[in-house]
Amino acid sequence: MTLSVNTSQNGWPLSKNSLIERTSFWKDYICFFIRLFMSKILIIGACGQIGTELVLTLREKFGNQSVIAADVRENCPEIIANGPYQKMDILDREAVRGFIIEEKIDQVYLLAALLSATAEKHPDFAWKLNMEGLFTILDLAKEGYLKRIFWPSSIAVFGPATPKIQTPQQTIMEPSTVYGISKLAGENWCAYYHSKFGVDVRSIRYPGLISYKSLPGGGTTDYAVDIFYKAKEGKEFNCFLSENTSLPMMFMDDAIRATIELMEVDQEKVKIRTSYNIAGCSFTPKELTHEIQKIMPNFKISYSSDFRQAIADSWPDTIDDSVAKKDWGWSSQVDLPKLVEIMLKNVSIPV
Ligand SMILES: NC(=O)c1ccc[n+]([C@@H]2O[C@H](COP(=O)([O-])OP(=O)(O)OC[C@H]3O[C@@H](n4cnc5c(N)ncnc54)[C@H](O)[C@@H]3O)[C@@H](O)[C@H]2O)c1
Repeated sequence: MTLSVNTSQNGWPLSKNSLIERTSFWKDYICFFIRLFMSKILIIGACGQIGTELVLTLREKFGNQSVIAADVRENCPEIIANGPYQKMDILDREAVRGFIIEEKIDQVYLLAALLSATAEKHPDFAWKLNMEGLFTILDLAKEGYLKRIFWPSSIAVFGPATPKIQTPQQTIMEPSTVYGISKLAGENWCAYYHSKFGVDVRSIRYPGLISYKSLPGGGTTDYAVDIFYKAKEGKEFNCFLSENTSLPMMFMDDAIRATIELMEVDQEKVKIRTSYNIAGCSFTPKELTHEIQKIMPNFKISYSSDFRQAIADSWPDTIDDSVAKKDWGWSSQVDLPKLVEIMLKNVSIPV
């Protein structure tokens, strides 16, 4: 066995400083090569409820410099300021194309969209935003600039004629909202680009997502986040859905894990190229309140339904996610009691 000693060119042992310099030179050199072969990821709509947490998780996994956050917002929120940020309007097709080609991006997560409740107020713009951006990204993949795309769908693709209990992967759709129509059309365009042009686009039908790191952006399930802020403030919560409205929901960690697992699985395991059903836990506002009251017995709720009730009534109660389980091993980890415990522990009231 030979012992090697670090020496300088003239044979003297290296000083501590030059050792540090050399170590950091090699670290940069290795990182440069790792980056050369690793994906360069762009997340569009990165400042929203899902984007914020997806950026943080992907940066932890692939390094801060490999994951570029992009959003129409001028400034990047503090929470994702640990890596590159690009102001980007997904509707500016040429600018988006230029950036993706120039930066040699090879994976895009396209999250920019108008959500269910806001889309009902601005139907023309919702259709434009939710569809045009998708074509820009699908076309880039078709031309060979992108290797893989993630585009989220929603339980809003289902409608009043859909079986409500354990809604299957393939069933009657007929959505009754602008948002749902745009998501169903988007799903079918994804499947079309995959079968005609071999585009590797992957998608999940997210249920209502619950998180404490970022606020929701205008959906019908937003009440299930807002309620925790009121509970922490010690105030009564006025719910915009009726007490027995059951909806499929999921804790954000599960949703982010599902997204990354689906993006990392081998091509041949991705059998569904419209969008996968996934399920977390379904509950009503009454059931959620009951669970909160186990920890905060004085918490109170009142109900006054608004236009979002009709949207919620058109959606499933529970989701069958057996196809995602079979194809790529999906499994939810957070049930309602755990979700409530995590939210009440972590929600912080803005000062
Ligand atoms: N949050 C949920 O419960 C949920 C459920 C089902 C599906 N989804 C889908 O997931 C995706 C992300 O949802 P979210 O909850 O994070 O939404 P969000 O509203 O919180 O965030 C959307 C982000 O897109 C940005 N954006 C808007 N217009 C843009 C434009 N022209 N160019 C670039 N960026 C733009 C916004 O500034 C915002 O930061 C959407 O496609 C949504 O339909 C979300």
